[in-house]
Amino acid sequence: MKLDTIIRGGRLVTASETTRTDLGIAGEKIVAIGKDLARGAVNGATVVDAGGRYVIPGGIDVHVHLELPFCGTVSSDDYDSGTRAAACGGVTTVIDFAIPYGEESLQQAVDNWHARAEGKACVDYSFHVAITKWERHKKEVKKMFDQGLPTFKQFMIYEKEGWQSDDAALYEALETLSGLGGMLLVHAESSRVLDLLIERHHKPAEMKKHGAYLHTITRPNFVEAEAIERVIHWTRVTGGRSFIVHMSTAEGADLIKNARNDGVNILAETCAQYLVLDDGLFAQKDGHLYATCPQLKKPADQKRLWAGLRDGEVCSVSTDTCTFTRKQKSMWEGDWTKIPMGMPGLETLLPVVYTHGVRKRRLTVNQFVDKCCTTPARTMGLFPRKGTLAIGSDADIAVIHPTLARKVDFKNMQTHCDWSPFQGWPLAGFAEHTFCRGRQIVRNYKFVGRNGYGQFLPRSLT
Ligand code: URP
Ligand code: ZN
Ligand code: ZN
Repeated sequence: MKLDTIIRGGRLVTASETTRTDLGIAGEKIVAIGKDLARGAVNGATVVDAGGRYVIPGGIDVHVHLELPFCGTVSSDDYDSGTRAAACGGVTTVIDFAIPYGEESLQQAVDNWHARAEGKACVDYSFHVAITKWERHKKEVKKMFDQGLPTFKQFMIYEKEGWQSDDAALYEALETLSGLGGMLLVHAESSRVLDLLIERHHKPAEMKKHGAYLHTITRPNFVEAEAIERVIHWTRVTGGRSFIVHMSTAEGADLIKNARNDGVNILAETCAQYLVLDDGLFAQKDGHLYATCPQLKKPADQKRLWAGLRDGEVCSVSTDTCTFTRKQKSMWEGDWTKIPMGMPGLETLLPVVYTHGVRKRRLTVNQFVDKCCTTPARTMGLFPRKGTLAIGSDADIAVIHPTLARKVDFKNMQTHCDWSPFQGWPLAGFAEHTFCRGRQIVRNYKFVGRNGYGQFLPRSLT
């Protein structure tokens, strides 16, 4: 068979095994896996030497926000810089959230997000559809499935943004989606208690004293835990399928574990920042930069989330990329409720999880692939096209050096961000080479892809 590219001599890693072998690509697909594909005449195939490297499936970040109007500004990474960053981090698929604003329909939101991505995306992409007004939006749900969009999102907070869903909306959305074979993603925080705590602490003296640490004071762990309990309850009674996004607490992991043991069809992801950063950062100079929602928690939560990744109650790691520059973050002027919430992450997802998971022996290299590539593809209806190295799968591949660490410096990165939560950290696991559907988009750590190459991925969960 004529091969276009041979990745030679690497250690191929899937969620279940590691094998020293070659991999052959023809067109957009993996067509051969075996020893010595590059022996003798290679018939014009490009040979990429992966000796001493891991060859892994491209990462799948199922939680990103690109060019998101939020907190009175617009997040600064768009489909150009955001997907370049993804490529350099070895991520070949991103799933964003199409969110209706004001009275917009679901269709308008989806059309808006298609317009943001088309012609710009350098890696493949899809969308979750955010339901912000259930009574208006419910009639459109079936139509979304017909467009390859089977995953929806509801927010239990963000009343001011007009995004909030109440329990009736959660209940009926779970019921409806379960009949159609869909899944509901939920931002789970207890809004009334959160609002009360914010109001209680929103005082000049407290802001002067605590600064950005008021995020921690007003969002104790029970704010997330109570909301997750409610989602578990509604998922159980409807027989629906739900997915807790950006879970950040030990209590959340315990609840998900018990619910799954009881047969409730619920999954939960965490994000890289909750595994390696803690709320002690708010006390530092520029601590406000780290404000994200939910906010960073404690080392004990990190420990529980790593254990959850190993044991299964935390199914995957994403980034919740929502980038704001220093200038945008400076809008806070000492009031924590005005900090645009979110941080960059796409370029550092695999390096952070690889370095702090695999290198620190918290995860095996196969678990790393499972949590960042295979399970995200499975849960979001992309497997086996994406998320694995198998004959017939898309040739979405990252080649990473197992030990060589590169120092994070936002100045050398693709993100439109003038700071990094991991600035100066030595991280192994950056993509030396990345392929997306057979095309090389990163070579020797340099982006060589092009805007518009990334394709929309219609999905189905059944
Ligand atoms: O702070 C964050 N995470 N911004 C994005 C919106 C959300 O809640 O995911
Ligand atoms: Zn959220
Ligand atoms: Zn988010």
